[in-house]
Amino acid sequence: MTQSLTKPLSARPSGPLTGAVTVPGDKSISHRALMLGALAIGETRVSGLLESDDVLATAAAMRAFGASVERDAAGVWRIHGLGTGGLLEPERSIDFGNAGTGARLTMGIAGAHAFSTTFVGDASLSRRPMGRVLEPLREMGAEVIARSGDRLPLSIRGADPMAPIAWRVPVPSAQVKSAILLAGLNIEGITTVIEPVPTRDHTERMLKGFGADITVEPGEAGATIIRLVGRPELQPQELTVPADPSSAAFLIVAGLLVEGSDLTVANVLLNPARTGLLVTLREMGADLAIENERLSGGEAIGDIRVRASRLKGVTVPPERAPSIIDEYPVLAVAAAFAHGVTVMEGLAELRVKESDRLAAVARGLEANGVSCREGEASLAVEGGRVRGGGRVATHLDHRIAMSFLVMGLAAERPVTVDDAAMIATSFPRFVDLLSRLGADFAEVAEAA
Ligand code: S3P
Repeated sequence: MTQSLTKPLSARPSGPLTGAVTVPGDKSISHRALMLGALAIGETRVSGLLESDDVLATAAAMRAFGASVERDAAGVWRIHGLGTGGLLEPERSIDFGNAGTGARLTMGIAGAHAFSTTFVGDASLSRRPMGRVLEPLREMGAEVIARSGDRLPLSIRGADPMAPIAWRVPVPSAQVKSAILLAGLNIEGITTVIEPVPTRDHTERMLKGFGADITVEPGEAGATIIRLVGRPELQPQELTVPADPSSAAFLIVAGLLVEGSDLTVANVLLNPARTGLLVTLREMGADLAIENERLSGGEAIGDIRVRASRLKGVTVPPERAPSIIDEYPVLAVAAAFAHGVTVMEGLAELRVKESDRLAAVARGLEANGVSCREGEASLAVEGGRVRGGGRVATHLDHRIAMSFLVMGLAAERPVTVDDAAMIATSFPRFVDLLSRLGADFAEVAEAA
C-alpha cells in the first residue's frame, strides 16, 4: 500500500448542520464479513460493506489466501470462500497499511494454517504491540519471527496439528479475543476465551450466524466464557452491514456542538458493546433521540436524531471504556465545549491505538486553548469556551484528524489538522458528508 501524501485541512466555524445522512458500514463488521466469507464454503454476499483503506486491505489479504473477493456495486461484495483450513499460502507479504483489526484478526486465521504468512504495515501499525495476539498463537503451536517487541514486520507459521487453548485475555480487546477464536476455527477440539471485561461481540455473533458451534456464558466476577468447537463447516451467508457508530460519532458530536443544528444519522448499529458514547453524551445533557429502532442481521440498529445541546461535564467510569474505546477523542472534543470538568478513566488502551491517543488528544486540546490534565490512564478536560486556532498533529491517526475537525466547526477560530489523508482508512467521505450538512472546510497549503 502506498503511503498517501500529507493533506492538511482546516474546519471553520460553521452555520447549523441540518439534514439526514447515512454513514458507511461498520468497520469491525466489514472486516469480519470478508474473513468469515473467505472461511465458509461457497458464496457469501455482503451489502453495505465499508470500502475504506483498512477494509480493502483485508479484502486483498483474503484474496492473497486464495479466496475470490469481488465487488459488484458500491458496498455490494461477493466472497467465494475455501472452507476452514482451506486457505493457501500467500505468495507475497500482506500489507495491512494502518489497519490493526485487519492485521490482528488475520494473524489468528494465518496462525492456524501450516504455512508461512508475512505481515507488513505503515509506520503507525509497525509501532503497535502484536504480542497480545502472538502469545496465544505461540501457545497453540505457531512459530513467529517478529521485530523486537513483537512488532511488524513479522512472519507466522502455523503447525499441524495445533493445540486448542483456554486463554484469559489480559487486556480488554475484541481483537485479541477474535484472533484466538478465528485460529480456533482450524484447530480440532474446543478453544476457550475468558474475557474479564466484555468487549464488542461481532465475531461471536457472526460465527454463530455462519453455523459455528459457539457458546457464550457468564463466568466468575463478571467475566464471559466463550467456547468454540473447532473445524466447523461454515455456511455462506447474506449479510447487511449496519452503519458504523464510530463514524456516526463525529456527526453526532458535530450536531450537538454547532449551534442550531438538527441532523439525523440513519441505520446506525446500536450493539450495546458500542453505545458507550451515546450513554455518556446523554448524561452530559445531549438531546439525542433514537428513532425507528429495529433488528437487522441479528444486530439492533436505529436512526439517531441530534439537536444542538448545552452540555455539562461528567465523570465517565472506567468500566465503560470498552464500549466507548474508539470514541474518546471525539468525546474529549465534546467535553471541551461542556460546562465544567469531564473526567475519563480507564484509558490505558488509548496509548496503543493508531497513535498514543491520550497524548495526541491532550496536545490537540492544548493547541486550541483547552485546559486538560493527562494522567497515565485518564484525561480530565476543563470545558467552556474553545478558542480554536490551533494546528493539531494527527500522527497517522484518522480519529484524531476527524475529532479535531469537528472541534473547528464549533470553535471561535478554525482548527487545522496536519493530515486529513488518513481519514480514508475508516470514513472516506467524512468531509463530503459533513459539507453536505453545512460544515465549512478549507484546504490548507502544505507547510514548507
Ligand atoms: C476492534 C476492536 C478495538 C477497536 C478497534 C476495532 C475490533 O480494538 O479499538 O477499532 O473490530 O475488534 P482492541 O481490540 O485493540 O481494543
